[in-house]
Amino acid sequence: MSATIIDGKAFAADIRGRVAEQVAALKADHGITPGLAVVLVGSDAASEVYVRSKGRMTVEVGMESFEHRLPEETSEADLLSLVAQLNADPAVHGILVQLPLPGHMNSDAVINAIDPAKDVDGFHISNVGLLGTGQKAMVPCTPLGCLMMLREHLGDMSGKEAVVIGRSNIVGKPMAHLLLGESCTVSIAHSRTKDIADVVRRADIVVAAVGRPKMVRGDWIKPGATVIDVGINRVEAEGGKTRLVGDVDFDAAREVAGAITPVPGGVGPMTIACLLANTLTAACRANGLPEPEGLTV
Ligand code: GUN
Repeated sequence: MSATIIDGKAFAADIRGRVAEQVAALKADHGITPGLAVVLVGSDAASEVYVRSKGRMTVEVGMESFEHRLPEETSEADLLSLVAQLNADPAVHGILVQLPLPGHMNSDAVINAIDPAKDVDGFHISNVGLLGTGQKAMVPCTPLGCLMMLREHLGDMSGKEAVVIGRSNIVGKPMAHLLLGESCTVSIAHSRTKDIADVVRRADIVVAAVGRPKMVRGDWIKPGATVIDVGINRVEAEGGKTRLVGDVDFDAAREVAGAITPVPGGVGPMTIACLLANTLTAACRANGLPEPEGLTV
């Protein structure tokens, strides 16, 4: 049996379409244009690519995009004063400071200087605490995208065994909280987990977010399980080229799983779609309007 392929590219396009419709209504009915500010310090090549596509898609859904590019040697104090300026700007509803920041900066201090209501990454300690206690929060974009795909594919997840592989603050930990919120029985596996294969074999839902190419083998997957692959790893391919692979051995896992996300074209496109959804949510909340339907947890 070959697994259903969960098409993140199509799903993300659908979400962006729904965001665009609701942005148009917000403009027409209330004269509000949601605005997203993205701050990039230095010139990390991968970050440049992300920031460019974020800016393009922000404009495509009808929002205002504010890009701030600062040199690598910018002081933390100068970055904090830009964050304060964006916090105070009523045209800015969402603020994203692209990570990683240069080594001389304290990322936690910078992230926690963002107004939690504008923290569309969901990285501020207030949002982390709200999510951890099951309250309304800004939810980090990648786990939010994973949850939307799981809900769409599985519907009710109550009582299912879920394993999150990876314990990062950006994906693993918030993902585990979201799955708990769906009443799954949740395990978090990581580099020190003993017999990780056995832990994964129990899971009806596997979310892999470790950043190690094809680490999750096909024979670790329980037959019929739903597999969400967050990894995006560039590896060498034939002819001196490179290609992208996930954290899951896709070709082997698809023979066993019930459903699986591909890499590329799975979780990746969902992240920016959820960033736009979070920006719309922030704009609605800032103006005391009802939250957009189907775009929040
Ligand atoms: N760098 C890689 N992914 C992300 C993300 O989702 N948010 C931010 N701010 N930086 C990142």
